[in-house]
Amino acid sequence: MHNDLKEIIVTTEEIDNILTRLANRLNIDYADDELVVITVLCGSMIFASDLVRRLTMPLTMECMKVSSYGNSSVSSGTLNVQLDVQHDIKGKKVLIIEDIIDTGNTLSHLKKYLEECQASDVKICAMLDKPSRRTNNISPDYCGMTIPDEFVVGYGLDYAEKYRNLPYIGILKKEIYE
Ligand code: IMP
Ligand code: MG
Repeated sequence: MHNDLKEIIVTTEEIDNILTRLANRLNIDYADDELVVITVLCGSMIFASDLVRRLTMPLTMECMKVSSYGNSSVSSGTLNVQLDVQHDIKGKKVLIIEDIIDTGNTLSHLKKYLEECQASDVKICAMLDKPSRRTNNISPDYCGMTIPDEFVVGYGLDYAEKYRNLPYIGILKKEIYE
């Protein structure tokens, strides 16, 4: 697997530092809250499981599996929910855990969907952000690292469902997917 990478852009040690920084921030911002943490499957499961173990507030965990179609300026009707939350989130503070924000389509639809479920607050924590690819005004409230427009794998991120188990994040060689 390692030989399929052009370059490692976030090492295991850097991931650890990012987790500590994000958790410190979240532990301050949500110190007096009970949180519903929503893990967006499958890409975010490793990031989410590492992050929640550093959080100190009471929280519950939900998993969602979603995909989006088309233009994010139209309603959440374009969100395909394959796995929904299992408990009512009405009135709850929600934190979406996402692996990477690329165009922002998935998250803008998901955020709208959760707001329509009447969550009292919906925020986004993303491990990686590729702002140069954004097609809407969505941005993470908490962000691990901003990266250039490259296709990356590892630490939950896949190409054709592979590479998720790499303990670091790297740029995939173009010849693997072209
Ligand atoms: P968006 O709706 O364009 O923001 O798509 C976000 C989703 O696309 C992420 O949750 C990932 O599953 C996938 N994705 C985007 N960029 C990458 C990448 O560089 N590597 C792996 N998956 C990616
Ligand atoms: Mg994903």
